[in-house]
Amino acid sequence: MENLKNIRVLAIVALIMASTSVAPAQKRFDEQEMKVKIDSLLFIMTLEEKIGQLTLYTSDYDVTGPTIREGYKEDIKQGKVGAIFNAFGAEYTRMLQEMAVEETRLGIPLLFGYDVIHGHKTIFPIPLGESASWDLEAIEKSARIAAIEASAEGLHWTFAPMVDIARDPRWGRIAEGSGEDTYLTTEIALARVRGFQGDDLYDLSTVLACTKHFVGYGAGLAGRDYNTVDMSDRVLREVYLPPFKATVDAGVASFMTSFNEVDGVPATGSHYLLTEILRNEWGFEGFVVTDYTSINEMVPHGIVANEYEAGALAINAGVDMDMQGGVYQEHLAELVKKGEVEEEQINKAVRRILEMKYKLGLFEDPYRYSNVDREKEMVMTEEHLDAARDVARKSIVLLKNEAQTLPLKKDIKTLAVIGPLADNKKEMIGSWSAAGDWSKSVTLLEGIKAAVSPNTKILFAQGTNINDDATQGISEAVKTAKKADAIVLAIGEEALMSGEAASRASIDLPGKQLQLAQELHKTGKPVIVVLMSGRPLTINWLDENAPAILETWFLGTQAGHAIADVLFGDYNPSGKLPVTFPRSVGQIPLFYNNKNTGRPISDEKYTSKYLDIPNTPLYPFGYGLSYTYFTYSNLKLNKPQYTMDEQIDVTVTVTNSGDMKGEEVVQLYIRDLVGSVTRPVKELKAFEKIALAPGESQQVNFTLTKDNLAFYTRNMEFKAEPGDFKVFVGTNSEECLEADFKLLE
Ligand code: NOJ
Repeated sequence: MENLKNIRVLAIVALIMASTSVAPAQKRFDEQEMKVKIDSLLFIMTLEEKIGQLTLYTSDYDVTGPTIREGYKEDIKQGKVGAIFNAFGAEYTRMLQEMAVEETRLGIPLLFGYDVIHGHKTIFPIPLGESASWDLEAIEKSARIAAIEASAEGLHWTFAPMVDIARDPRWGRIAEGSGEDTYLTTEIALARVRGFQGDDLYDLSTVLACTKHFVGYGAGLAGRDYNTVDMSDRVLREVYLPPFKATVDAGVASFMTSFNEVDGVPATGSHYLLTEILRNEWGFEGFVVTDYTSINEMVPHGIVANEYEAGALAINAGVDMDMQGGVYQEHLAELVKKGEVEEEQINKAVRRILEMKYKLGLFEDPYRYSNVDREKEMVMTEEHLDAARDVARKSIVLLKNEAQTLPLKKDIKTLAVIGPLADNKKEMIGSWSAAGDWSKSVTLLEGIKAAVSPNTKILFAQGTNINDDATQGISEAVKTAKKADAIVLAIGEEALMSGEAASRASIDLPGKQLQLAQELHKTGKPVIVVLMSGRPLTINWLDENAPAILETWFLGTQAGHAIADVLFGDYNPSGKLPVTFPRSVGQIPLFYNNKNTGRPISDEKYTSKYLDIPNTPLYPFGYGLSYTYFTYSNLKLNKPQYTMDEQIDVTVTVTNSGDMKGEEVVQLYIRDLVGSVTRPVKELKAFEKIALAPGESQQVNFTLTKDNLAFYTRNMEFKAEPGDFKVFVGTNSEECLEADFKLLE
């Protein structure tokens, strides 16, 4: 009997594998064929084998969380695991894949996932930095290259993009997203999904994307990682959900749940979020993975008494795959036996995961991504390094440039390069730098040396460390600085002061770096500050005293070259802040699209303000200077009023009024003056990045429809309401031209 069963199984498996064996180079999958295969597999799989497919474990290669399961290789051989993360490299993934394919009864291939967040081996700017480029093409290209390199190293799946809106710079993971704005984050999320997934998952150079963290992770109280989130459904839907929804519409393959609770229910156990919204409202067809042990963490959250209950809550809420927690492995079979979970729920989850394996072509050839030759050929190529340098320089934001301190002349006689981040390879690649090899990154000192004339003398002193109290290096740095014509001072955070589990209560410059800056300032030489950070920092003293400041985030493998390109004018900076820079941590959360309140700030005492500092930020959202300057004129709408179905055409003329060619991000905001619920004072609705030669003008055209004016009304309908609107177009969220229009019934 047992034999007969095995023969039947083998026959079906042979059939499944055989019918996928002839493959054209590019193949769009056939729905019907896929369904037949997965139906046949589901038919022969035991409950335990099904649960294996819902289980994801880390390898011991590069652990990204608090625990590691001993014996994951044994688990693979026993069919207890369907996906592995933190394993990469053609040889290593092949070896693990062989265990799954050759040693398990059904030979179902593993799926390999990894945090390919801003590049795989060639490291691009941290996502927040890259978002400052507002250059969707460049961002898509960086995700494309990340996918090419990752897939060449055996990976099928990246845990990106992170699309969490972050309005609190204390939160370390602000570094991994696109900042505070819903519209900008959405556009960037779409660019990244396009870059990772391309238009055919079967294509060997694409990987599955994973939109994360669903949802609200960026809104943890007080900016503390993993902290409680409490928000109205209106804010959830209007501010936090849109980038997630947009990636569903764009066909993203997977979603990751977040660690936090929302309205009292951990996201990983939220039927409302995972089934009612994600599946029923949005029609998501990919699979949902948890974050690292977040099923288990529902116990300390206090929503269940033990992991057995946690497993039931998660699967019934709509979680398909358990990352690292082993709860499904441990308890799902029993939950099914006891009738607390229906096997059909498990079948659905297995199907979603197998579909992705199918689309990647893994049933046809489980080793197709693990190819040593491809790996050698595709990783860190000249072309990839050039693209990394290009997007890195586009990500730099010029915060201040008094009296045209920058650009520097390449034949400057003596330049002092100072600071703990000036010649620091390790920090350049930032947090979440995947398989990136920091020893291959270019430091600022190296970049500067490569850029200047042969006659220029470059001096270097470290001055201080990044984050301790040592000051003994400062006098040496001052001595060095005195010998120079100008000082480039590289200060900021360590890469790992942002990222996961890296919240800060103070966002000042850490350690003694401010003191270093102050001592250098006393020399009377121009101090050009090159700031490196994974978040906005409070830099009031620098803003008042340094003649020039560049925010350079962590720019990746090519950081030094990219910064040198900007310092010496080979590239005219065009980055714009994707997040507000506050004056003080006491203003947080501070974001541009706030509400007006009933007592907007004025000279009157009883208005909404602080006694000690202004309400305004140090640098607003969308802000960033150029070596040239742009004038805005002729803001026009094609009509004074519109019916609901009419298109609103907005035009503006932008002129490069300086004497250097440059790029400008033209930003369009709206304000709905009266709503059935109060509306923000400004909302970004469109932008365009243009390039202009000196003296050149360009008319920029934007089109708005009622969809751009829609919001969740008093009774939670998503629609535009008739009434008066303002439209603003300008160089940042504060400096804009404005015009009015009316929307009719
Ligand atoms: C925890 C992080 O929150 C998540 O973003 C990441 O993908 C996983 N760890 C896996 O490393």
